[in-house]
Amino acid sequence: METTFLMVKPDGVQRDLIGEVISRVEERGLRIVAMKMLHLERNTAEEHYAEHEGKDFYETLLDYITSGPVVAMALKGNKAISLVRDMVGDTDPKDASPGTIRGDFGIDIGRNIVHAADSEESAERELDIFFEGSDFVDYRKVEEDWIYE
Ligand code: RTP
Ligand code: MG
Repeated sequence: METTFLMVKPDGVQRDLIGEVISRVEERGLRIVAMKMLHLERNTAEEHYAEHEGKDFYETLLDYITSGPVVAMALKGNKAISLVRDMVGDTDPKDASPGTIRGDFGIDIGRNIVHAADSEESAERELDIFFEGSDFVDYRKVEEDWIYE
């Protein structure tokens, strides 16, 4: 079992895709164990995207991610980290496969609807930026017992 970090970015919120993203997460069988809507401060955005500091798109990325509210989620499930990356699709929506969130709804690399943690280390680091211990709930869905026993 892994817990990963998924965020609906400002364009996803603006385009009324919060429900679509949540539906896909639920339908895939993932468990939402923390969720919040927030407007990122510049310094939180810098921390979140620290790996991209110095790249030519970094400032544009920070402007964009702080341009409106986002919805942050912690998702738990079997191999959740790679599974959610697969659900999200390639960074550039024009290369993302149909059936992925970016492949179904995106068109612009700078407006690619969602962010997902790309490794165990990023998941842990990003969850720590957005959530504290008391934000997490845990529960089991009736029909998932057989998967995890
Ligand atoms: P994310 O972190 O947002 O989930 O996206 P990702 O892993 O698929 O892509 P990453 O390489 O981490 O890049 C972070 C975000 O920066 C923007 N970007 N623009 N060449 C460019 O103009 C460029 N490259 C990346 C994208 O919005 C990407 O999601
Ligand atoms: Mg990334």
